[in-house]
Amino acid sequence: MLHSVGIVGTGSYTPEKVLTNADLEKMVDTNDEWIVNRTGIRERHIADDKTPVSELCYQAAVKALEDAKVAAEEIELVIVATVTPDFAFPATAALVADRLGAKNAAAFDLSAACTGFIYGVTTAAQFVATGVYRTVLVIGAETLSKILNWEDRSTCVLFGDGAGAAVIQPVEEGYGFKSYELGADGSGGHLLAMLGGGSRNPATPETLQKKMHTLSMAGSEVFKFAVRIMGETALNVIEKAGLQKNDIDLFIPHQANSRIIDASVRRLGIDSGKVFVNLDRYGNMSGASIPVALDEAARGGRLKYGDNLLMVGFGAGLTWGGTVLKWSKR
Ligand code: COA
Repeated sequence: MLHSVGIVGTGSYTPEKVLTNADLEKMVDTNDEWIVNRTGIRERHIADDKTPVSELCYQAAVKALEDAKVAAEEIELVIVATVTPDFAFPATAALVADRLGAKNAAAFDLSAACTGFIYGVTTAAQFVATGVYRTVLVIGAETLSKILNWEDRSTCVLFGDGAGAAVIQPVEEGYGFKSYELGADGSGGHLLAMLGGGSRNPATPETLQKKMHTLSMAGSEVFKFAVRIMGETALNVIEKAGLQKNDIDLFIPHQANSRIIDASVRRLGIDSGKVFVNLDRYGNMSGASIPVALDEAARGGRLKYGDNLLMVGFGAGLTWGGTVLKWSKR
């Protein structure tokens, strides 16, 4: 017998320091008008030199646990979705579990870039649906500022740092997750990547000199992929949930670029008033974008008991994923 599973608490955290488009104008050859017109981004939060991603994870997790009224000892699994872990190993999830006092939890990191939170909640929900675990903490967190080439105007203006967390537990029958879809196509892996520092290109003075430890991206290819996959994935999960487009009360898309969101929403035919957008204040926080938006939507009263929530992500891998859930929090 499978349990109904849902999100019973959310939390988010972004570092204090804000970097505006005006600040970027002093760093690279760019301007506020270009950034706003091409991306919709006005400012982003940036972690300071002493702040690793695990710190952002911890802050978001504390709020999510409080919101869910769950004690750290109840957590049986911690999943951290990130491509900017504290270290290659040990897993950031293990460090966060320790800091939280989640003594009874297994812990692992998950690498699906901007789709990481969707991969994370989908994985978590399977453990809870089958009764293997009762309480799973999923965190999407990123400090992309630490792997950006701050001399490359085509990428450094796009991203920001942050973390969002969700507590996954059994919920009232008929509520919670209704459908999932996950996908990957490694043939597009080179389109958005950090190529240095792994086993293919271990760190050497040469990899450093070639800036292989920073993010590289083929922007227009990723753009086309994003618009196509966002619409397709959304339609698939709506259908798998047995719903129609009009049944969706809130759509939280991955917050990469307002033009990607607008084009996908137009294709989908969802009322733009039902789409949650906060990328103007945060930029693209990769795996943290969807959970931070979810937390803001939940705390801001945009999600009511019984609402049908659609979330869709896409990103490096290439990866994509979507889910529909019936909101179970009162
Ligand atoms: N400021 C000013 N000019 C810039 C700039 C910046 N920050 N970045 C690039 N430009 C310039 C380019 O050099 C180019 O100039 P040129 O025509 O003289 O060569 C011009 O602007 C147009 O560049 P282009 O790359 O064609 O712009 P675009 O309309 O495709 O927008 C992106 C670029 C990156 C905003 C867009 O491709 C995009 O959003 N892609 C998806 C990225 C993404 O979301 N990635 C994460 C996925 S999870």
